[in-house]
Amino acid sequence: MSDTTTRVGDAYDKSAGNYNAAMFNPIGRKVVDLLDLGRGERVLDIGCGRGACLFPAADAVGPTGHVLGIDLSAEMAARCAEDAAASPFRDWVEVRQGDIQRLALDEPVDAVTAGMVLFLLPDPADALRRIAAVLRPGGRFAATTFPTQDGGLAAGWESAEIIADVLGGYLPAGVDNPWTPVLGVGGPLADAESTAAAVRAAGFSEVEVGTVDAVSHFDSVDAYITWTWNITTRMLWDLVPADRLAEATAQARERLAVIAGADGAVDFVCPTRTIHAVR
Ligand SMILES: C[S@@+](CC[C@H](N)C(=O)[O-])C[C@H]1O[C@@H](n2cnc3c(N)ncnc32)[C@H](O)[C@@H]1O
Repeated sequence: MSDTTTRVGDAYDKSAGNYNAAMFNPIGRKVVDLLDLGRGERVLDIGCGRGACLFPAADAVGPTGHVLGIDLSAEMAARCAEDAAASPFRDWVEVRQGDIQRLALDEPVDAVTAGMVLFLLPDPADALRRIAAVLRPGGRFAATTFPTQDGGLAAGWESAEIIADVLGGYLPAGVDNPWTPVLGVGGPLADAESTAAAVRAAGFSEVEVGTVDAVSHFDSVDAYITWTWNITTRMLWDLVPADRLAEATAQARERLAVIAGADGAVDFVCPTRTIHAVR
């Protein structure tokens, strides 16, 4: 397992209990809507987290269908499995711990969802080929990723850029910045055009890359900072030396104050890149 994958698994193990699924559910539903799933279809959800795509997919395919969620983080998979067992979909949803970099299924599926996970993989092009390999011919793929362009994030993501910029200043010498793969600098997900090209190169056709808006509200800058401990930026927080955490938090608070409203709340609309393709 690569260093990046170990770090990703550790970060999501720690954040699984506080992962605010409610924040991700609207965008997960939009991913599922792109697939126009029918009753009885078999779906694979990679990087299922706490089920933002998994549960809307289960709702769409109904009891004659099947949805398998796979997550690298044992903790995330265990909690999602508990959520599934308590849901109305428990008889046709299954959750397993697993690494999609070693994805293999006994039978092909009709559709694959990948909500905000491709950028966490050291080799997204390889993952796209593996996804194509588990889809039946004519099967559909839908995903979301960060809307990177020119080495940065699209307008609307200033809050994440501020956190990454502040914490980047506290990383120990010689440690790779885990934010770099998020930005996909030099990688296949670097911009919309390269993303579409990578999806086509993996064997997909009818490739469409677009955006949907994720709307977020936090009552305060501190509420936003707390949230950043439970999403991808957790990987950065985990690298800040313990004796510098208070200083890093104070700096983040000061920098983020510029995006807070007069009432102290933080509201933003983050355009999120979508991918839809047919095998
Ligand atoms: C940003 S979260 C998104 C979760 C969910 N899809 C959603 O939209 O809310 C990314 C998830 O992908 C998982 N993940 C990261 N790398 C993975 C890999 N190689 N194989 C399987 N899951 C992975 C993480 O553990 C985490 O739960």
